[in-house]
Amino acid sequence: GEGLEGERVSGAREKRSLELGGHVGFDSLPDQLVSKSVAQGFCFNILCVGETGIGKSTLMNTLFNTIFENEEASHYENEVQLRPQTFELHESNVNLKLTVVHTVGFGDQINKEESYKPIIQYIDAQFENYLEEELKIKRSLFSYHDTRIHICLYFIAPTGHSLKSLDLVTMKKLDSKVNIIPVIAKADTVSRSELDKLKIKIMSELVSNGVQIYNFPTEDEAVAEINASMNTYLPFAVIGSTEDVKVGNKMVKARLYPWGSVQVENENHCDFVKLREMLLRVNMEDLREQTHARHYELYRRCKLEEMGFKDTDPDSKSFSLQETYEAKRKEFLLELQRKEEEMRQMFVNKVKETEAELKEKKKRFEQLKRLHHEEKKNLEEKRRELEEEMNAFNRRKVAADTLMGQGLQGGSQALKKDKDKKK
Ligand code: GTP
Ligand code: MG
Repeated sequence: GEGLEGERVSGAREKRSLELGGHVGFDSLPDQLVSKSVAQGFCFNILCVGETGIGKSTLMNTLFNTIFENEEASHYENEVQLRPQTFELHESNVNLKLTVVHTVGFGDQINKEESYKPIIQYIDAQFENYLEEELKIKRSLFSYHDTRIHICLYFIAPTGHSLKSLDLVTMKKLDSKVNIIPVIAKADTVSRSELDKLKIKIMSELVSNGVQIYNFPTEDEAVAEINASMNTYLPFAVIGSTEDVKVGNKMVKARLYPWGSVQVENENHCDFVKLREMLLRVNMEDLREQTHARHYELYRRCKLEEMGFKDTDPDSKSFSLQETYEAKRKEFLLELQRKEEEMRQMFVNKVKETEAELKEKKKRFEQLKRLHHEEKKNLEEKRRELEEEMNAFNRRKVAADTLMGQGLQGGSQALKKDKDKKK
């Protein structure tokens, strides 16, 4: 019996390859996937980080061959702001919901220490929205407008010998949250040899500061070669322009100078085409995937752990969601009880305090009352004394008056006697 059971178990574990007798049709699965995705459309979200006037809007317009916006930022923002704009784009039968987010006022504040914070906050907020949708009982991830940032184009100024500390700090803070592709903006403003030196310097600074930029993936054979070669061109030196110029008998995007023109799409002039190819044609799906599987996953893990979820307990037995929930609920109830007890205690203490205060006040009142009583007694005493004095005085006065009256009477009698004598 035992042998048979063991066999059955191992049989269930093993996978056997089978030949199909003929065509059954599941080979259309990839096509089904494609048509479903096409019908649904795609979301792609680009974040442009770079100082005011460095050429972010122009590059976006050039990349997508359209005009997104003309608004210029002022140099006097109090803090960095993020301005997202969403557009519906169509190419052949593919619909792309594109969100372009610009940093407004980046690098314009005197104190640049906080510059990266609004960017992190924005990226996290998009992750949070997605996580909330995921945790809903009624999820609608299929029709959900995914605003998570798939790529951060970091614009580096062409002037100067290397990265600014603001660039290093910001990229370092961002690299665990988003795919970063650094680009050297306005590459037409520096000479070829300076550009080559700048590229090398930037890459070595990124490496020595441990900044992890996005590397074009080389696992997939179909794109391994081109991606590997493109990785060596990073950071891409780009030029943007929406001006069409006639070169030979063709109209091309270029920047015109008194001495000639710089063509945006000429690979000898700059890396614009490389950027467009890598971003839109070869690696767009990888960028979307990396965002979900790496950056969002990290955010989600930290957030759920923070909320008390874990996969295994200390004895590395796996936790069920139910157990986690119940443990969390128990913890919450205990905490509630503790809070309640604390509040009760606080109330009791307060009452006691008030009682003591009242007692103290009463004592003080009694004291005052006694004092008042004594004073009153003293006063009464004094009054009595005074009254007695007054009475005594009055008595003496009356006595004196009588005496004086008698004296007068005595005098007139004597006068009368004299008169009688004369008669
Ligand atoms: P804000 O949105 O105001 O922060 O600026 P921005 O980064 O969007 O820059 P924008 O694209 O508005 O370009 C600013 C100025 O730089 C414009 O005058 C552009 O014509 C010019 N500019 C843009 N790209 C390039 C470039 O590749 N080379 C040169 N030389 N100038 C450029
Ligand atoms: Mg702009």
